Order: sequence, then C-alpha cells, then structure tokens
Amino acid sequence: MKLDVIVAPTFLKEDTLKGCSCAVVDVLRATSTIIAALVSGAKEVRPCLTVDEAKKAAARLPRDSYLLGGEERGESIPGFDLGNSPLEYLTREVVAGKVIYSYTTNGTGAIRKAYAGCGCPIYVAALINVSAVSSALVAEASRARREKIAVLCSGRYGGPSDEDFFCAGLMVDNMSRELRRRGIQHELGDNAAAAARYAAANRGHGLYVLTTSEHGRFLESLGFEDDMIFASRIDLYDVVPVFDGERVVLLQ
Ligand code: MLT
Repeated sequence: MKLDVIVAPTFLKEDTLKGCSCAVVDVLRATSTIIAALVSGAKEVRPCLTVDEAKKAAARLPRDSYLLGGEERGESIPGFDLGNSPLEYLTREVVAGKVIYSYTTNGTGAIRKAYAGCGCPIYVAALINVSAVSSALVAEASRARREKIAVLCSGRYGGPSDEDFFCAGLMVDNMSRELRRRGIQHELGDNAAAAARYAAANRGHGLYVLTTSEHGRFLESLGFEDDMIFASRIDLYDVVPVFDGERVVLLQ
C-alpha cells in the first residue's frame, strides 16, 4: 500500500486518484466547518462548485429546510445565511436537521474534484478529527484492497498551504502506525514523507502552524483568530464525515 499527499488540487493529474482511498483536508476552514456542522446535527452538507450552483440547488427545497453557507475569498456571500466560520455551525438550534449548501473558495471544489477523480467516497479530514479519519481510511483501504491512500490538501488559490500539509503529515503518521499494527506493508510517496517530517517537527505546535500560515495571517486580519483556536484542537471529535458524490454525512 502506498500513502501519498497531493499538496493542492492543481497537482492532480487525470488518474492520480483512480482506485485510491482518498481524504480531503481544508483545516482553514472548509473541512473544519463541515465537521462542526455535522457534529451539531446538520442533516447533510452539499459542497458546491459555485455560488450559483448552491443557490439554485437550495431553491428546490422548502426555505426552512436548508442553509446556505460559505465564503468567497474571505468575504461573506450576499444572500447566504452563514459564513464559513466553524463556530457559527456549533449552535445546534441553527443547524440541526438542515441541509447545508456550502460554497468556499478552495475546500468545496477540492472535495468535488477528489470525488470526480476517484469515484469512491471521499473522507473529510481536519485536525479536529485527524485520528478518527486516519483509522477509517486505513480500514476502508484494507477492506477494499486498495493499492493507495491519497490525502488531497485543498491548499490556497491553487498552491500549497502549511496548515493542510501539517494535517496531512499527521494523517500519514497515524496511518503508517495503523498499517503496521495490521501487518500491512506500505511505502510513502515523497510528499507524504515530507509532510510526516513537517508534522513531526511541529507536533504540539498546531496553533502556531495555523496562525503563522499565509491563510492564518489572512484570517487574523479579518478577525477570525477564534476559528484558528478551534481548528487547531487535535482530535476534538471522533467522527468521520464522508462525501458520496452528492452529500457529506457522518459515517455510522
Ligand atoms: C476555502 O475553501 O478556501 C476556505 O475554507 C477559506 C476560509 O473559509 O477561510
């Protein structure tokens, strides 16, 4: 079994994810927010490719059954109910039972692109569920006898991002341990090995990684410091969200 990390969707080739078990990471903030919404009882999250797609798809449902959420280049989106701060999605009364149509600059597109390239369920990962999602990926990959597990970082505007690379490295480390425990031989691609080294060098300093990253500094300039504190809480939740091509729900 090979473990690989793709540092941003722009680095995907047509067949990169074929036959893989795959997770998508967007620590700041799309995947952290999706996890927060589902933990708070949202019925499902539908990642959208455009603002227009989100609005049109949502309009088919009764108004009280859905929420539009997300951001575009850090700004809230006109006509949307919520932004992309995970903290907004922690209020049960707001999100419980709702279908959430989400559009974000990098993260929701990365999830959709991963599904298009892989054709299998996509695991949704962040620091707040990093151990749970790592174990679930290994379990799925060994059950389905996959040859590769890929972690796709959403990155930032087509390039890599520190916080996603850090999370991917922790996942590589967790998955290597789990594969060894199961007696499954594995090898690391170069990006996976580099991510694991980066994560090991910064273990215990997750908040520092987030706040000093390019996107972290951008979020700080917008007043979202509390989002980073939340998103840096490793293993806050023991949940595994999975995207089936249409919706993200928690794996039961
Ligand atoms: C994205 O998808 O680019 C992000 O999640 C941006 C953010 O909300 O900070």
